Amino acid sequence: MTEANTNSDALVFFGATGDLAYKQIFPALYGLVRDEGLSTPIIGVAKQGWGLDQLKQRAADSVKEHGGDINSAAFKKLLGQLRYVDGDYNDPKVFAELRKQLGDAQRPLHYLAIPPVLFSVVASQLAKSGCAKNARLVVEKPFGRDRASADALSRILDEYFSEDDIFRIDHYLGKEPVQNILFTRFANATFEPIWNRNYVRSIQITMAENFGVQDRGAFYDEAGAIRDVLQNHMLQILASLTMDPPTGQQHEAIRDRKASLLKAVRTLTTNDVVRGQYDGYENVPGVHPGSTVETFAAARLEIDSWRWAGVPIFIRTGKCLPVSIAEAVVQFKKPPREAFGEIESVGCGHVRFRIQPDVTIALGTRVKVPGDRMIGDDVELILTRQPGADKPPYQRLLGDAMRGIDELFTREDIVDAEWRIVDDILGNVTPVYRYKPGTWGPDEAMQLIAGDGPWLNPKPA
Ligand code: BG6
Repeated sequence: MTEANTNSDALVFFGATGDLAYKQIFPALYGLVRDEGLSTPIIGVAKQGWGLDQLKQRAADSVKEHGGDINSAAFKKLLGQLRYVDGDYNDPKVFAELRKQLGDAQRPLHYLAIPPVLFSVVASQLAKSGCAKNARLVVEKPFGRDRASADALSRILDEYFSEDDIFRIDHYLGKEPVQNILFTRFANATFEPIWNRNYVRSIQITMAENFGVQDRGAFYDEAGAIRDVLQNHMLQILASLTMDPPTGQQHEAIRDRKASLLKAVRTLTTNDVVRGQYDGYENVPGVHPGSTVETFAAARLEIDSWRWAGVPIFIRTGKCLPVSIAEAVVQFKKPPREAFGEIESVGCGHVRFRIQPDVTIALGTRVKVPGDRMIGDDVELILTRQPGADKPPYQRLLGDAMRGIDELFTREDIVDAEWRIVDDILGNVTPVYRYKPGTWGPDEAMQLIAGDGPWLNPKPA
């Protein structure tokens, strides 16, 4: 077995007392122990003045809230694997203690579930204390705050870790329905011939959430919708929808195709984006008074390639929208002439990929309504509908990282291309329009789509 394929023999997670650990990491660890027999030491690190018992309690609360059974043998096993190191990330003693806790682990995995401003200090402390030797590093998104800071961060991490050992998380890549976009496209010969500018009229991707920023005001007010989800999750969906077919057998084939697609996406300008903020956002604890951070963003993109030239692509995301649904629709062109004289021919055919809450792939077609007249109706053939993805993305991704499998992680050049696309629209360079919670964002978003609309508002199944 080569070193690259050696399983990691300890899992360290920084930010162990934080929100992400509570919502995602403990449930994922529980799943890994229960379903995949994870049996390595699991060491939480944080600066909270806690002891191991408090961390165990936190793990129990987290697993209980997310539907796990804390009386199961697997949960008891997880508790037995947990260790805790407390202290400031600037303090070398914390890392000396971590080194001790790692014992004879040869290939530890360090997961930085902490704000990116802390990545460099933790990476350098890991190196100085000997904890980085032969180690893997998993980093959370957002990777940097813009293109320049992401690049600087990569330089710093590269000082201590080899690129092959750095795993950049975008948890949308761990979602079954996102993988299914690629699978459906390339496991069939049917779609590829029509998947281009000759047949596709437009593409819309919506990621709507019907709740606000909740208790994440301080984090969110430093990010906003463009940094939080558009730059990463939504561009990853776009890449899966529009990339060229992977070629060859190398394991980088898919990421190479995604990278070249994202490199062909035109840099967004201030005319291509509409930002919004829901009424009441300013009252969220942690949000600055008078904040101009966006909780909604709509963008019009173009891909400069022979396949996609001239096809408008619309991306929309927001908090406090009417529903919590993520969906992509590839809309086809209308037939070249109106054969049946329908006064209003609404549909033109589409493929719809619902990513959540349910997983649906559907083919929209116009069919004749029974009766004497040649008039039609838009129907959908549901190719698959599943209640929801089975394995939680963080379980999938952490399990892969422990095994050194990097296909479902993003890559330095991909992250760079994503930042380049949004770099000129970050911050307060466009107006932020107000919208009422429970609506589809500010009216100005309608103008953005204009003649290529309307926006397709996803409806619950
Ligand atoms: C996270 C964002 O990356 O993704 C959150 O920080 C967002 O703001 C979340 O709510 C959405 O993820 P999911 O898996 O619930 O769709």
